[in-house]
Amino acid sequence: MKLKDRVAIVTGGGSGIGAASATAFAAEGARVMVVDIDETHAKRTVETIEKMGGRAVAMHGDVTTAATNEAIVARAMALWSRLDIFFANAGVPQWKTEVEDVDEALYDTIMAVNVKGVFLGAKYAMPVMKKARRGVFLVTASTAGIRPRPGGQVYAASKGAVITFTKGLALEAAPYGVRVVALAPVATFTPMLATFMNKREVDEEGLAAYIATVPLGRLNQPEDLARAAVFLASDDAAMITGSCVEVDGGRCI
Ligand SMILES: NC(=O)c1ccc[n+]([C@@H]2O[C@H](COP(=O)([O-])OP(=O)(O)OC[C@H]3O[C@@H](n4cnc5c(N)ncnc54)[C@H](O)[C@@H]3O)[C@@H](O)[C@H]2O)c1
Repeated sequence: MKLKDRVAIVTGGGSGIGAASATAFAAEGARVMVVDIDETHAKRTVETIEKMGGRAVAMHGDVTTAATNEAIVARAMALWSRLDIFFANAGVPQWKTEVEDVDEALYDTIMAVNVKGVFLGAKYAMPVMKKARRGVFLVTASTAGIRPRPGGQVYAASKGAVITFTKGLALEAAPYGVRVVALAPVATFTPMLATFMNKREVDEEGLAAYIATVPLGRLNQPEDLARAAVFLASDDAAMITGSCVEVDGGRCI
């Protein structure tokens, strides 16, 4: 087991990439706190983990608030007395929109969840990891932050911001033996996918258009990211920090 007895917090753990990663962490022996603004979905992930004999707890919270980030780190420490992995994964998408039609309120929401949420996670997780002189802070960025598509400029900027945040934080954390790594998924089969395609539901036309942009000829399953997250969180990735790891079938080449 690659993560035996480690403690992980996964934000946005109720669905998609977060749910798959929380489950994969638990399968590798970690105790996992599943955090989501959707409490029902957080509990669903915990049930999945418990059914396979893993250990997990659900926490309801909004990553855009300091109170949530402070509380989840404090709860993990109270429950398990350590914090090895913080996966800042919660995010929100953007419908394809010309910039003049993007509402300021939408801009604020995307930046609050995708950027401020990551910053606040680090603000509260990093002191614990620095003190323990061990830990891995993972961030879900996106290929959009490297190679944007038209009409998703604010989402792309939010992901570009966290890729740079990852690099800056990695330098600060390195002297403490703490690693910071971003993952950049290409389009992934989660509830968010239809929004990126500007569709109510994923359809053949949308799929074909996206697949045509991926050299390996398919999109991600959440488990593609979960396997990468397990590797990056584990000691197998001991020399990887500050990187943005593209899980994208070659999209960013
Ligand atoms: N699906 C894709 O195509 C794709 C591609 C690249 C990057 N991503 C990124 O992957 C990450 C995970 O998204 P996903 O694809 O699994 O989508 P998803 O919609 O399945 O999961 C996102 C989860 O985040 C939660 N969430 C949203 N706002 C929150 C908040 N303020 N506080 C706490 N939880 C909140 C949602 O309730 C949901 O459970 C996001 O950061 C997203 O931007 C997704």
